[in-house]
Amino acid sequence: TGCFTYDPGFTSTANCSSKITYIDGDAGILLHRGYPIDQLAEQSNFIEVCYLLLNGELPNEQQYREFDRAITQHTMVHEQMNRFFTGFRRDAHPMAVICGVVGALSAFYHDSTDINDPHQRTVAARRMIAKMPTIAAMAYKYAIGQPFIYPRNDLDYTSNFLQMCFAVPCEPYYVNPVVSRALDKIFILHADHEQNASTSTVRLAGSSGANPFACIAAGVACLWGPAHGGANEAALNMLAEIGTVDRIPEYIDKAKDKTSGFRLMGFGHRVYKNYDPRAKVMQKTCHEVLDALGGHDEPLLKVALELERIALEDDYFIEKKLYPNIDFYSGITLRAMGFPVSMFTALFAVARTTGWIAQWNEMIEDPEQRIGRPRQLYIGSPQRDFVPLNQRD
Ligand code: CMC
Repeated sequence: TGCFTYDPGFTSTANCSSKITYIDGDAGILLHRGYPIDQLAEQSNFIEVCYLLLNGELPNEQQYREFDRAITQHTMVHEQMNRFFTGFRRDAHPMAVICGVVGALSAFYHDSTDINDPHQRTVAARRMIAKMPTIAAMAYKYAIGQPFIYPRNDLDYTSNFLQMCFAVPCEPYYVNPVVSRALDKIFILHADHEQNASTSTVRLAGSSGANPFACIAAGVACLWGPAHGGANEAALNMLAEIGTVDRIPEYIDKAKDKTSGFRLMGFGHRVYKNYDPRAKVMQKTCHEVLDALGGHDEPLLKVALELERIALEDDYFIEKKLYPNIDFYSGITLRAMGFPVSMFTALFAVARTTGWIAQWNEMIEDPEQRIGRPRQLYIGSPQRDFVPLNQRD
């Protein structure tokens, strides 16, 4: 009963209006606040893009300096949070750790949980963007049995993240500028993507008035799935499983066979029915990193390039408009940088935090905002009378 539209997967339902990100999936266009993603990736930096997503305009020099300083001021996490990390099993997936630790942030930062106070919302946004790399790096260090490395505020955002992941106290660590610039670009490419599953989750959680840290933890949980952020991990595992170019046709056939349950990971997108504009930049970045690190003969890159070539000429993929998405090349790139596969989705979470918090803030400020409460089509039993246990068959 009732009058509503049945739309599983929300393929044709807009749940909000937004000024942040525009996607034209047929044309393969992605704009943040009007700026094309390739221009931002090539000419801007992640901190500037964070400012843009949060505030709607690119910063001037003074605004940039102020914002950058504010982010670096919040990079440390409360010392007592170390115990959260050490309470996990060493083999815990970093996303499980991040989900738990982010969810606990509201227990430590009471002065930024009042969602009705714009100043507290600004502080919460800055804290989240600043602390997420620290939390992700701590999850990694704990997993490999190395001491936590504190943030260094003399480094830029991404270089600092690299040093928190790869430095050790017993020797100096030098950030490779090519790697740092490439990772910064990867962060930009992942920063926001309008109403994807995890962002919608953050908005839905926030629509009840939940605090921002709890909402971001919900986003992390949703991002983890292999159909969403977990696809970069799944894509690399798939390329490794294929292993050599001669085995590609077998996997293409498997992906086309609906009974196999197998999909080409890093292929296809709900919105893009054309080449994902992020994937183009990602492929270029992948080459830059492999060239800089001497890994251009990486066998998985050969498999990826050949797989892409064959799939793009195959009738099944042409007809269904399945193109490589951002995750297809990101795994190879991140692995070449030294990240283990289990950290790939965590890196996505670091970058997407800015989109989540910008979208959350936009929602709170929206006078049309109401609690998100989807309806359902009930297909269960009609009303019936309760039967006591001793009278049931
Ligand atoms: N390999 C083989 N067939 C596919 C694939 C694929 N990767 N993706 C979609 N299809 C087929 C699917 O079987 C369906 O066929 P049919 O119409 O005959 O039933 C058709 O294409 C449409 O697929 P869908 O599942 O209805 O499309 P969706 O919009 O619900 O799903 C998707 C989008 C991204 C979940 C899906 O393409 C997929 O599972 N891709 C692999 C996982 C992946 O790479 N995810 C990363 C997405 S981009 C990063 C992010 O935003 O998180």
